[in-house]
Amino acid sequence: MEEQDSTQAALNQLQIHVKDLQKWQVDEDFAKTMENFKALPALYRHALNELENKIDVIKTQWQIRDGFSPIEHVKTRIKEPKSILQKLQRKGHELTLENMEQHIHDIAGMRIVCAFVKDIYRLVDHLCEREDLRVLEIKDYIAQPKPNGYQSLHIIAAIPLVLLEGTRWVKVEIQLRTLAMDFWASMEHILYYKFDKRLPPHVAEELKEAARAADELDQRMLRLRHEILELSERGEYAEPQGQ
Ligand code: GTP
Ligand code: MG
Repeated sequence: MEEQDSTQAALNQLQIHVKDLQKWQVDEDFAKTMENFKALPALYRHALNELENKIDVIKTQWQIRDGFSPIEHVKTRIKEPKSILQKLQRKGHELTLENMEQHIHDIAGMRIVCAFVKDIYRLVDHLCEREDLRVLEIKDYIAQPKPNGYQSLHIIAAIPLVLLEGTRWVKVEIQLRTLAMDFWASMEHILYYKFDKRLPPHVAEELKEAARAADELDQRMLRLRHEILELSERGEYAEPQGQ
């Protein structure tokens, strides 16, 4: 009984109720797991901060070298403890810290929105070459969009975190998208939840069509960029002085 109480106390801090854990056994190891579980968000937050700093340096360098950075914006988030538990359960894994670290790759998430598709691949190539992080997996939904039209490039990377007990490699999911892809994904997300995750076929079809339109927009912008670069190389276009 006492054991159950201390477990629920730990869970309360994470705003999770024992009933949400369903099949998991509540034993003494479990209370210990919960204690360690509480330390996780801080660890992943530090890993995200380290990565954010690396991306910031890249942005500045691009800015200095090319006069502009193709990285439009960067967002980070830590997955809610409840969602971590639900995902572990959905994947059929026991609730252990090892399983969380091994099977949940998106506890720490970063979204990098770039101006052009080309820049996404330039950034990925650069990340793959770095020695201060490890690219573990790449899912290219730009080259091969999901059946619903979703486009983005996903990377699972490990970031080294130097702790008192030594270096720990922490996984982070990085999603890279263009502005058009980000707009589509945000709208799709809103609609998906509005329709309670069951989109009527005609809505799903129109969304797919909208994804193709977003893709076309990206390609158009890229063509415009090439055109401007060519014109300025031939000296037929120059930026006004002082701008
Ligand atoms: P899960 O995180 O369990 O889905 O693992 P997975 O291996 O299927 O990962 P996947 O790379 O397919 O997707 C990871 C994340 O990408 C999701 O959590 C979403 O943030 C985003 N994502 C994937 N598919 C879609 C989609 O169809 N629409 C939107 N809006 N976002 C998506
Ligand atoms: Mg998925």
